[in-house]
Amino acid sequence: MEGQRANAEDELILSSLPRERGWAIPDLFLFQEFWCPSILIKEVNIFQKQFQAKESDIFVASFPKSGTTWLKAITFSIVNRQRFSSIDNHPLLTSNPHQLVPAVEFMYRGDVHCPTTEPRVFGTHTPFPSLPNSIIGQSNCKIIYICRNPFDIFVSAWIYFDKIKLEPLSTLKIEEAFEMYCNGIIEFGPWWSHILGYWKESMAKPSKVLFLKYEDLKEDVNFEVKKIADFLGFPFTQEEENKEVIASIIKLCSFEKMKDSEVNKSGIIYQFLEKKYFFRKGETRDWKINVGKVKLELEIRGERVKLELQIHGG
Ligand code: A3P
Repeated sequence: MEGQRANAEDELILSSLPRERGWAIPDLFLFQEFWCPSILIKEVNIFQKQFQAKESDIFVASFPKSGTTWLKAITFSIVNRQRFSSIDNHPLLTSNPHQLVPAVEFMYRGDVHCPTTEPRVFGTHTPFPSLPNSIIGQSNCKIIYICRNPFDIFVSAWIYFDKIKLEPLSTLKIEEAFEMYCNGIIEFGPWWSHILGYWKESMAKPSKVLFLKYEDLKEDVNFEVKKIADFLGFPFTQEEENKEVIASIIKLCSFEKMKDSEVNKSGIIYQFLEKKYFFRKGETRDWKINVGKVKLELEIRGERVKLELQIHGG
C-alpha cells in the first residue's frame, strides 16, 4: 500500500516535468535543470536526501563519455596501492573499474554495492548543484572532475549510446543528435552547465574539487597521476618513484591494457551496460568540422551568451 502510494507520487512528479527522448534511455526528464534519465530519477532523489558522506570519501565526477572509466581506474589504483602492491593480482585484472568504483546513482537501484573499505571511492554523473549537502558542504570529502573536449564527448556519446540504447529507441541520425546536444538534451546534459558547475567549485574550493582534462591526461599522464595523488592526500614517496610504482599504475590503467584485459571483453555491469563498449579508441580529436553551423551557449562572467558560428571551409 505504502509502495503504491509512493509510486503514484513519483508518477505525479514526473508528469509535471519537461520530457524528451534520450540517446540511450527512452525518457529524459528535466529535473533540477539537468536531463535526468527516467531510470535514475528516483535514485538521484534518494541520493540527494539520504547519502551521508564520510570525511575520507572520494568522488570521481564526470559528464558521460569524458574519461570516467580511466579516472576511476587511476583513482582506485592510487588510493589502494598499499593493499594491492602486486600488479599481477590487482583487482583491475578481474573487475571493471565501474565495479570497483560504483556510480552512486546505480547503487540506489541495487545494481552495485557500496564500497566497504575506506577511503570509499564513488563515481557520479550528477551535476554539482544537485549533489547531496553532505558532499557539498558538510564533509571534507574530495571530488575529482574530468572534463573533455565537447566534440570528442559528442562523437564518443553518439556511438556509445547507440550501442546500448534501450527498446524501443531508434538510431539517432548524427545531425539530429548534434542538434539535441547543442540544446543540452542528452543524458545528464546540458554538458556546458555540468562542466561549469564543477569548474566554478574547483575555483572556489581548490582543496575540495580537482578539475582535470582528458586531454591533459593523454598528454602527460605521469604528471596528472602525481597531481591526483597529492590532491587526495596520497602522495608518492621518492622510494615509490624509484620503484616505478607510478609507471606501473599508468600501465595497468592504460587504454590498451584495459581494453585487452579479459575481464573487459565481455559481460555487463549495472544490469544492461556491456563492459567492452567503455573502450573504443581512447584518442583526442576524433572528429573534423566541415562547413556548417555550430551553436554554443556559454556563461561568461555570470551572463548567458548564445553564439551561432558559421564555419566556412573544411
Ligand atoms: P572514445 O569513445 O573517444 O574512444 P567514459 O569512461 O566516461 O564512458 O568515457 C569513455 C571514453 O574514454 C571512450 O572514448 C573510451 O574509449 C575512453 N577510455 C576508456 N578507457 C580509457 C583509458 N584507459 N585511457 C584512455 N581513454 C579511455
